[in-house]
Amino acid sequence: MQESFEVLSSSGNYAVTVGTDLLANVIEQHGDSIYIIDERLHSFLPQIITNCILINANENTKSLESMSEVILQMREFGANRNTHLVAIGGGIIQDIATFVASIYMRGIQWTYMPTTLLSMVDSCIGGKSSINVLGYKNLIGNFYPPVEIMIDMAFINTLSEEQFVGGLFEAAKICYAHSYQSFLDYLDKSILYPRTTDDVQKVIVYTLKTKKWFIETDEFDQNERLLLNFGHTFGHALEAGTHFGITHGIAVGIGMVVAVEYAKLSALLSETGIIRAENLIEHVKSMLGGGVKSVIENPPAIDLLLVLDKFNNDKKHRKDCYRMVVPKAEGELVLIAELKNDEVINRIKLAYQRGLAKIGYLNYQAID
Ligand SMILES: NC(=O)c1ccc[n+]([C@@H]2O[C@H](COP(=O)([O-])OP(=O)(O)OC[C@H]3O[C@@H](n4cnc5c(N)ncnc54)[C@H](O)[C@@H]3O)[C@@H](O)[C@H]2O)c1
Ligand SMILES: [Zn+2]
Repeated sequence: MQESFEVLSSSGNYAVTVGTDLLANVIEQHGDSIYIIDERLHSFLPQIITNCILINANENTKSLESMSEVILQMREFGANRNTHLVAIGGGIIQDIATFVASIYMRGIQWTYMPTTLLSMVDSCIGGKSSINVLGYKNLIGNFYPPVEIMIDMAFINTLSEEQFVGGLFEAAKICYAHSYQSFLDYLDKSILYPRTTDDVQKVIVYTLKTKKWFIETDEFDQNERLLLNFGHTFGHALEAGTHFGITHGIAVGIGMVVAVEYAKLSALLSETGIIRAENLIEHVKSMLGGGVKSVIENPPAIDLLLVLDKFNNDKKHRKDCYRMVVPKAEGELVLIAELKNDEVINRIKLAYQRGLAKIGYLNYQAID
């Protein structure tokens, strides 16, 4: 079954279509376009796609330093301001395509086909790019949505368990950030074993329509949309502190658990709020199955001091205070600012320890 809906944007509304066999439609419609493709996927794609820029999707290629090479290849394929770009890949390819489409000859139109669950449920709408600069992750970026997003369910088949669960954590984050009822609705849909394409498609469509509310209410990340950073401040520090041994989506799942522990330690939650937030923790724990090892291929040891150092250096904090999204009262999310003092730092550390223990990560040496 194919489903479509529109996202309203100040730079032009765009359509999202979810279904099967969409790749063939895109190729038929954009035969003479330039394609930016994750090189891992190239062998699965029809040979007829020409004008391909193949990119090894990693944090190094998603850097300002690598952009001139991509732009040069577009130039060599003869791209002009009427050229259409098609990007096929996960969040890294999306970030690169958003950025180059926005600046090539002052901006060209593009189509995005997300191929990881994370990019299908979350990043594909919203129009953001984030580009690394000289080792600093996501330091620069802009807003430049594609004109259409085509989600072909066939790409789900080759994802690892870790990529799949990571995508679901971002989906759970979006729904929980919207309202507890949305989270419950999401849970209803997320019985994914055995994982049928229809089940996964339902989760994707429900989550994207929930994210659509945030984008249309606050397109440029000033208020409500900031709540979608839930799990990210604690999570980014886990990613960076394990040299990306913990991948983004999984880190967000664990980051939400740590954020809940922080809220509990700070007495921010009512009794109802604790029950609701604990339900979220239970979901993360259950998705990690019989311990982190069943999902994460090589669970890295966590050096808590390094994680805290990375947390401290997060670019979203202010000079005198840490900023983080946590549940409060009845479990709803808020962005709080906490003064950078010893008491707060100890609480953050304890929240990591309790959060990691809750999901059974202790087996993998949370070094103190
Ligand atoms: N711009 C945004 O709004 C936004 C939002 C969230 C994340 N991001 C960025 O996205 C990146 C993470 O994105 P991601 O997790 O989607 O992945 P990714 O693009 O980093 O891909 C992860 C891995 O999956 C592989 N892959 C892609 N599609 C596959 C498929 N169908 N089958 C098998 N393997 C496949 C890739 O080759 C890569 O090795 C980070 O750099 C993050 O900062 C951007
Ligand atoms: Zn994320």
